[in-house]
Amino acid sequence: MDTVTPPILKGFSSKVQALTLHADGVKLLDQVALPNEVRYLTIRTAGEMANAIVTMLVRGAPAIGIAGAYGTVLSAREAFASDLCLEDFRKTVLADVEALSQTRPTAVNLFWALDEMKKILGEPVESAAQLLDLLTEKARQIHQEDWDACHRMGDFGAALVPQGAGIITHCNAGALATGGYGTALGVIRSAFANDASIRVYADETRPRLQGARLTTWELLEDGIPVTLISDNMSGSLMRAGKIDMVVVGADRITANGDTANKIGTYNLALIAHAHGVPFYVAAPLSTIDRSMRSGDEIPIEERDATEISTMNGELICAQGVQFYNPAFDVTPAKYISGIITEKGIARPDYLKSLAQLFEA
Ligand code: MRU
Repeated sequence: MDTVTPPILKGFSSKVQALTLHADGVKLLDQVALPNEVRYLTIRTAGEMANAIVTMLVRGAPAIGIAGAYGTVLSAREAFASDLCLEDFRKTVLADVEALSQTRPTAVNLFWALDEMKKILGEPVESAAQLLDLLTEKARQIHQEDWDACHRMGDFGAALVPQGAGIITHCNAGALATGGYGTALGVIRSAFANDASIRVYADETRPRLQGARLTTWELLEDGIPVTLISDNMSGSLMRAGKIDMVVVGADRITANGDTANKIGTYNLALIAHAHGVPFYVAAPLSTIDRSMRSGDEIPIEERDATEISTMNGELICAQGVQFYNPAFDVTPAKYISGIITEKGIARPDYLKSLAQLFEA
């Protein structure tokens, strides 16, 4: 039985790593504490992992998928330590997989990764130890494949970046949000490696400030200069001709190319469209949900009102006001210039081009 996973992935090339599997649990970089404190937590049970996903200690679609897979391994370790018979081992782990699936509804990567783990749970084996080994191997593979996919997306996407381009990104679609390297920030990392004169603008991304807190931190960790803007500055920058492209990540892309991503992505896409600025989405194929025909079908998570009613624990609005706090919005495919995947760049018509990428 393999209980020790090397913490460093093959070919690691960013200083930033959101989560790694170890013999004593999953080492998680606390994304609520960043950037003021760089703190690592050890997650030891599936229940702790579910809580880490809900409270956004770990966040970002691919990273949530990996967290779900590692959470399943933690569940299997607990069940194995309890000396359960094979049937009870399977039942216990399946119940934890179900609990992990109830954490955040929008990012399809979570459900994709948990489905992959469930397939392993259904394998005909002779012992719980064998299943634990297979689950561990699968979770490591999911992590490594995401890392590989991000690097390939980076290379495809970098070819789209004009010399010295001004680029806006929204939220955090970086190493922190993936198995390492990032989707949108993977494109930026690869582009920067070719041309250090690109100019990166991170918008703050109200209400959780992933752009301000996380994107600026991780880019600076890797030595990539970045300028922080507030969410309402992108129009004025585009009007001033300072922006050549937008690149964002995705939580779920439907068969027709409609894309759910962090709230505010749609606004940015409309502003880019109005200024003729290309708007790209970078996402692995595991983010594409071909079971849904359009963005209208995507479940949008609504989060606690305190995310918008308070700042640093202080109330920032009148008492008694009502709240609406959707965590994601849907950008219709017609505003998306291209979807950068690990197999190439899909262009409209997405129904056709995404299907071709799956078959390639
Ligand atoms: O609520 P979050 O921080 O999990 O939202 C993250 C995003 O919206 C990212 O842009 C998306 O998951 C892509 S991450 C590569």
